[in-house]
Formats: sequence, structure tokens, C-alpha cells
Amino acid sequence: MREGAQPVADRLRATGPGNDGPDGGPAGLRAIVLGAAAGGGFPQWNCRCTVCALAWDGDPRVNPRTQSSLAISADGVEWVLLNASPDLGAQIRATPSLQPRRGDDGSRDSPIRAVVLTNGDVDHVAGLLTLREKAPLTVFATAETHAAVGANPLFGVLDPALAAWREIHLGEPFAPLPGLAIEAFAVPGKVPLYLEGASVDIGTETGATIGLSVRCSGARLDHVPGCAAVTPALVARLNGTDALLFDGTVFRDDEMRLEGVGTKTGRRMGHLPVGGADGSLAALAGLAAGRKVYVHVNNTNPMLIDGSPERRAVDAAGWTVAEDGTEIALPVRGAAEETPWPSLPEPSRQTRLPTPPTLRTPTSSPSTTIAR
Ligand code: MLT
Ligand code: MN
Ligand code: ZN
Repeated sequence: MREGAQPVADRLRATGPGNDGPDGGPAGLRAIVLGAAAGGGFPQWNCRCTVCALAWDGDPRVNPRTQSSLAISADGVEWVLLNASPDLGAQIRATPSLQPRRGDDGSRDSPIRAVVLTNGDVDHVAGLLTLREKAPLTVFATAETHAAVGANPLFGVLDPALAAWREIHLGEPFAPLPGLAIEAFAVPGKVPLYLEGASVDIGTETGATIGLSVRCSGARLDHVPGCAAVTPALVARLNGTDALLFDGTVFRDDEMRLEGVGTKTGRRMGHLPVGGADGSLAALAGLAAGRKVYVHVNNTNPMLIDGSPERRAVDAAGWTVAEDGTEIALPVRGAAEETPWPSLPEPSRQTRLPTPPTLRTPTSSPSTTIAR
């Protein structure tokens, strides 16, 4: 814990006698979906597809959603963001737990201590720019995502004296805060859109697209907001989780084209569809999970509509479609995590834009190379 953070945290911990959690809330892992939509949000600023039109018209069957981010905490006092969306400012204004406090010396003090990035996509990283106003922050990212984002001079607005970039490695748990252990794992994906070259490999398993397995007091939550395919290895890894938050970008692979708002399929964008014989509903049907929640839902996805056939299919399979503000509390199941603060190397700062990382590492699942 950083200097300056402790007094406020202690004061909050001292409140709420009789409650389990340090801040008067439930003890154990808490997660808040800050934004449940994919890139563009819902409704999207320039879109009047069938689903967006309902939102623009105020139809009660749909609720607007902001872009993809999750906040997690072991104590309700200090929080880690899993991705920082372009809507982060509005998300903080809507989420009391993330709002600033007055430090004991009168200084500014945010409960947000760290951000962990699952890829370098704009909807997951642009919110870092919102966090630039001189607050201590640690940003955890793989080498691939750091090369795409942290090395971009624009993100130098995060004052290097206060914001530390830490490199994370697949399969090596780290503790962004006491009591929280996170392990990154590769999921089938691709490079961010802005790094796509003349051709792009879809479904590679590298540090460019990761899932995060969060452990806290014996409970486990898995966050996979972007995934191009469900492999047997991924099913085996996710099995037994207490809560799975999974990529719900499109319901049909060709839904953007059907709506006339784009030509790319979901798979071409690195997202397997929810529905269909080989969609995520079918692929994860046998998964043992306490809760299954779709996140990163694109504005074209009809499962956003209450009562739609697609929503009914998802409900019937035991999934929920996340809303902004959806909370998940996982009770204490065992001892607090003891993963030490990692001695991670700080990536060296670069002064020029990075070249796209090489993503041709052999993988266990076949990847597809597609010309743009
Ligand atoms: C995605 O999830 O595919 C990306 O967020 C797309 C984008 O960068 O707009
Ligand atoms: Mn996205
Ligand atoms: Zn739309």
C-alpha cells in the first residue's frame, strides 16, 4: 500500500462494526461492472441499428451501457480496474465506491490504485488518459500490450513519477493489492485494430489478448472480455470458477453485416459469437461456474433487448447479460491470498511509436490469417 493511502483506508475500515467487510460491505471479493458494452458503447454515437434505435428512442426494453471495464476489490476500500474505458469519467461519477476522498492532509485521494489491461484495444485503454491528474497508479500489462500502449508517447501524460507500468507474465500470479491475486492467461485473439497490418492472424494465443483469473479469500472470478474461440484448454481452465465474465460481443457472427452497419464478422474482430452451433453458449454449456455473465456486448447484439429470443436463449442457459453497475460479491471461502507484491521489471519507456509485435508464436489452437 502506498504512503498516504493508509490513513483514509484505516478510517473507512474502522466504520461499520458488525459488518463483515472492512468498509461495512460484504467481506470477500467484490466486482462491479463499470461498463458492459463493447467498443462504441450502447447506443453508439453514430449508430441507428435496430438495437441502438430502441435506446435512442427510450424503449424500456433496453438500458444504455458504457464501454468495457470491471472494478474489483478485496476490501471495498481500494480498487483495481480491469481495463480502463473511454467512459471511465462517467463510470466513476456513477460508482460511489470509486469516488475520490479527501486525504488526511487535504490532498486528492482516489480509491483506484491500479489498472490491469487485457489487451490494447481503444475501449480498454483510453480511460488511462482520464487517470492522468497526478495520482499514484500502477498499470499492469503484458509486454505486447505495453508495446502497443505504454510505449505510445500519448500515454506519457500519466506522470512517470507517479504512474508505474509493470510487465505481467502469463501464468505468473501477481498481487495488484493485498488480498487479490491475479493470473493472466492467453486466450485466442489478435492484435488491436490499430496494429493490424495487411493481413491479421485471428486466434493466436499470446500476451496480446489475455483473460484474468482473480483469486480472493479462496473464491475465484475469471474475466475474459475478448475471446476469438473456446478451446478445450480454455474450458478446462475456466471450469470450477465462482464467476465467469465472458465476451458477449455479437450474438450472430454476421450480425453487423445483416444490420448493414459493417462488413466484418465477429470472428474477424476477434470475438466468437454467443449463439450458433459453435458459439460460446454451446461451447461453455457444460462449464461448472457459479455465475456466468456476458460482458463487452456490442450495440448490435439483440440479447441487449429484454424479452428478445436471443435474451431468452441466454437466460435459459443460465447466463446473465451484464448491465452497468452489475455487482458480484463472492464470499470468503478460505484464507486471504498471500501472493507477494511482485518484483516485476518496469518496461523501459520508448520515445517512438512501437512496431506491431510479432504474433506468430505457435499455438495450441489453429489461428487464421485473414487479409484486411
Ligand atoms: C474490439 O473489441 O474488437 C475492439 O474494441 C474494436 C475497436 O478497437 O474498436
Ligand atoms: Mn473491444
Ligand atoms: Zn448500433
